[in-house]
Amino acid sequence: MTTALIGVGNVGRPLAQHLVAGDEPVVLAAKDRSRAEALAKELGPLARAASVEDAIADTDTVVFAVWLDTIKELIAKDARLLDNKVVIDPSNPLGFDETGQMIRTLPEGQSSGSVVAALLPAGAHYVKAFGTLGANALASGANREPRRVVLFYATDDDAATMTIDRLIRAAGFEPLKVGGLAVAGRLEAPGGDLHQGGGLSGRLVDLDEARAAVAASEVPT
Ligand SMILES: NC(=O)c1ccc[n+]([C@@H]2O[C@H](COP(=O)([O-])OP(=O)(O)OC[C@H]3O[C@@H](n4cnc5c(N)ncnc54)[C@H](OP(=O)(O)O)[C@@H]3O)[C@@H](O)[C@H]2O)c1
Repeated sequence: MTTALIGVGNVGRPLAQHLVAGDEPVVLAAKDRSRAEALAKELGPLARAASVEDAIADTDTVVFAVWLDTIKELIAKDARLLDNKVVIDPSNPLGFDETGQMIRTLPEGQSSGSVVAALLPAGAHYVKAFGTLGANALASGANREPRRVVLFYATDDDAATMTIDRLIRAAGFEPLKVGGLAVAGRLEAPGGDLHQGGGLSGRLVDLDEARAAVAASEVPT
């Protein structure tokens, strides 16, 4: 039941902290291995560091807490290792232009979830999750009282659903499934109606508010 976290930056670090606080073992990998090792040391016996390949090979669940372009590179390199794994994708279709300005990197209407899912082997269990809050809110929003903050997710896969429900709860949040891969874009920045920085206008929502937000902009089928 160990979770691999690839990336220990703004998203990977608080996620690792919350999961360990919720008794979930983690294996950490980064570009610079010393960063993963330093965080593992800080987090204690439930955390260890490894290379990206070993972290993926040794676990059943992999969180790609890296930028979309890096996810593409890593999947291209390690696709066979991802077969039968639950793959959790918090990415957004965002990157930086030559002036350092943040820009959308995919055409309007195309989600980064659809890109990542299409690159995975057929046996992988894909879920879009852990990216609906800004990094600061993710770091500070765990175990809120009296009502937990919701983390939305989207997947078509039953195994991924079971895993992400468990991990979101362990991390101190309330899970809410919005739908399948087809709605992943609602959970992504910029502009997703269920992203904290998009349609939620900075708000952190509890389960009632989250259900209302999902229903408010649901496209009739
Ligand atoms: N920041 C946010 O508020 C936010 C919110 C929601 C979703 N997201 C999404 O979450 C993802 C991560 O964002 P972030 O802000 O956490 O990024 P970040 O702070 O820049 O961290 C990126 C991490 O990726 C690692 N990395 C880069 N290249 C790698 C490689 N080849 N192999 C292994 N690890 C590699 C880096 O390793 P080193 O530590 O060694 O440099 C770093 O730990 C992005 O897709 C982003 O769109 C971000």
